[in-house]
Amino acid sequence: MKGQIVSLLKKRYPEYVSGEEISRVLGVSRTAVWKHIKKLREDGYRIESHSRIGYRLLHVPDRLFTHELSGLLTGRLIGRNIVYRETVGSTNELAKELAREGAEDGTVVIAEEQTGGKGRLGRDWYSPGGEGLWFTTILRPPINPVDAAKITLVAAVAVASAVRELTGIEAGIKWPNDILVSGRKLAGILTEMSAEVDRVNYVAVGIGVNVNLDSAGLVEGLAETATSIAAESDGQVSRVSLLAGILDHFDALYEEFIRGHFHRILSLWKEMSVTINRWVRVTSLDGIDEGIAFDIDAEGALLLMKKDGSMRRVISGDVTLRN
Ligand code: BTN
Repeated sequence: MKGQIVSLLKKRYPEYVSGEEISRVLGVSRTAVWKHIKKLREDGYRIESHSRIGYRLLHVPDRLFTHELSGLLTGRLIGRNIVYRETVGSTNELAKELAREGAEDGTVVIAEEQTGGKGRLGRDWYSPGGEGLWFTTILRPPINPVDAAKITLVAAVAVASAVRELTGIEAGIKWPNDILVSGRKLAGILTEMSAEVDRVNYVAVGIGVNVNLDSAGLVEGLAETATSIAAESDGQVSRVSLLAGILDHFDALYEEFIRGHFHRILSLWKEMSVTINRWVRVTSLDGIDEGIAFDIDAEGALLLMKKDGSMRRVISGDVTLRN
């Protein structure tokens, strides 16, 4: 209902819309309209009202409300169902809970703030309210569990493409799934999965993008290694448009992946890679190795050539770029 009122007021701006018209279009009483307007104002919308003339929308808050986002999405699967929360511990944790309870394929769980955001390898992920995009997509891919790691690469291409398209920032991808700008981390992806030996129950793809954080807002230790959209660009970026862009790219790329066209995603990944042809240090369960990251193979594994000329194929791990 709130969404319908906002969309009517937006459509008619700069004109006023009478309470009577809103109540007629929505099929509710004038009192109900007034109550919804009151709630919208509490949510941060600035709505001017004049007796006899009606209501006029003056300001839309920078919030990720479902009714703001869903009108922008064009994808077929991802974002068809949206779960929005002001604050959660971690959207990945909530998404996994919802997935276990049967949440539909393509559900996106979004929070303004995470109090226990999780990064890869047991790290924390700093997620203050309104400063970034913290969201998790629940997918139920009809694939073999060994192929699920590829979805992280699909998501990385989606994030980097949307950032480039909407902000002009030259976002690059560090294997397997960090989004970097000038060597600093702009976004990260944490993919978790529940599977049986031969089938996937669900995959929860958690994405964190630093949007409004400036270097002063980055907590100690992060300022040297992290960056944000605001820090890398001149203007303010609408979080909701960026989120819609990422979800639309993800939707299109994921569909290609499901159709068996992972090679196309890999070539996009390579175009945006900041890892290939770099001297890297790889930390994985097999230990630490250094070498030239000379390619990624058809499965998305990193191919490393060590100093002694020997080759190593790395399926999962953490990469540090060396000079
Ligand atoms: C990393 O690079 O270490 C991965 C970071 C992933 C952060 C996102 S924010 C939304 C989702 N919920 C979480 O708790 N983590 C992911």
